[in-house]
Amino acid sequence: MPEPKNFFIKTFGCQMNVYDSDKMKDIFLANNIQPTEDSFNADYIVLNTCHIREKATEKTFSDLGKIHKKGKKDQKVIVAGCVAQAEGELIQKRAPYVDLVIGPQSIQSLNTFLKKDDISKAAITEFDAIEKFDTLNLIKRNHNSKSAFVTIQEGCDKFCHFCVVPYTRGAEYSRSVYELVDEVKALVDLGVVEFTLLGQNVNAYHGADAAGQPHTLASLINTISEIGGVERITYSTSHPINMTDDLIQLHGSNDKLMPYLHLPVQSGSDNVLKLMNRKHTRDYYFEIIEKVRKAKPDIALSSDFIIGFPGETDQDFEDTLDLIQRVKYMNSYSFKYSPRPGTPAANKELISDEILDERLARTQALLNEQQMEYNKKFIQKTVQVLIDGAGKHEGQVKGKSEFNQSVALQGEKQIIGQIIPVQIKEVLTHSLLGERA
Ligand code: 5AD
Ligand code: SF4
Repeated sequence: MPEPKNFFIKTFGCQMNVYDSDKMKDIFLANNIQPTEDSFNADYIVLNTCHIREKATEKTFSDLGKIHKKGKKDQKVIVAGCVAQAEGELIQKRAPYVDLVIGPQSIQSLNTFLKKDDISKAAITEFDAIEKFDTLNLIKRNHNSKSAFVTIQEGCDKFCHFCVVPYTRGAEYSRSVYELVDEVKALVDLGVVEFTLLGQNVNAYHGADAAGQPHTLASLINTISEIGGVERITYSTSHPINMTDDLIQLHGSNDKLMPYLHLPVQSGSDNVLKLMNRKHTRDYYFEIIEKVRKAKPDIALSSDFIIGFPGETDQDFEDTLDLIQRVKYMNSYSFKYSPRPGTPAANKELISDEILDERLARTQALLNEQQMEYNKKFIQKTVQVLIDGAGKHEGQVKGKSEFNQSVALQGEKQIIGQIIPVQIKEVLTHSLLGERA
């Protein structure tokens, strides 16, 4: 009997890449290839790459160099994800030992590759989301945690001037309601209770039902929430202009929808929003936040900010800080602007690193302060925590509250997978400590 083969996948970037890596794992398992932690001795190594910010391509080549040097003889090297999409040809030229280059809409080609082992090394970077999901739907699903990502929508038609996504993930595509219901049911059968619905523009979802009628995200969430066994639903990432009233109202009326919303604004300055081609103003964003808070007063809000977009003046930056002060976030992510090849802003004059560093530090200090303030209000309060694993310290378990906070507590491993009430006792910078209530 030949030794069974094994694989190792390294994932970079967003939750959508995590979902794609899970699907590639399913493909390997369906082909009787088992996971290993030993990357250099794996028969197959996959880099599932991200292209959203900074030196992504260089990082990929440096990882590939290491793999080429240290990887075992005959190791098959696969580059997937957004760098594969954007730089497929360059990868084949600079790293000819790479066996397969597959873009995010072509991960199903991995199945063909494993079966035949002789498909061309050429980059497979078609934008065929239909074929992707049709093929993936036929592969047996595996899942061993209580929460799961489900990609419901891919791609983007908005073309913000800083962003590679329309080029790496292609045009907007929504999966149909019935295939998503099937996927959720299959995951419930595997024990999943919490679902994060994913899309680069998730609230632009407009998938069809069996009769061909389009559904909104709100309608899809209602449908999924009625599936027995589904306890919690959340969605990410949204665009302010697709925050329709039905979706906003759902936050007040559907108990399974977690009281958490990630709604990136990117900048608090109308000038910069315009330069970014965001298609909304700061006042429009405030209006949406007000409506959301009216529907669900205790909702936890989060955002992304790009600091130092070309043309951002001191006053523009102060407007961003002012927006943060007004909204009061539970947590947020902020990034220095990074020019992305091929995007409309790629060749604009950059703001100096010194200014960028200072602005980013001020933004992060304010966001951290807000996170602390937000979390402190929870002391002595009880939240519902989905326990998802062992904590850092002996005898501890950890999980996520319905507000998407990380919570740790003393507890037996047997409660992993349960949703339990936890009274909050202490607030650390990025997590909470509590006791079972
Ligand atoms: N530079 C810096 N940050 C970026 N993002 C997207 N493109 C860029 C870029 N070119 C950030 C945005 C987005 C998040 C996923 O990454 O804030 O919401
Ligand atoms: Fe990175 Fe965007 Fe691709 Fe996700 S979709 S992996 S964030 S470039």
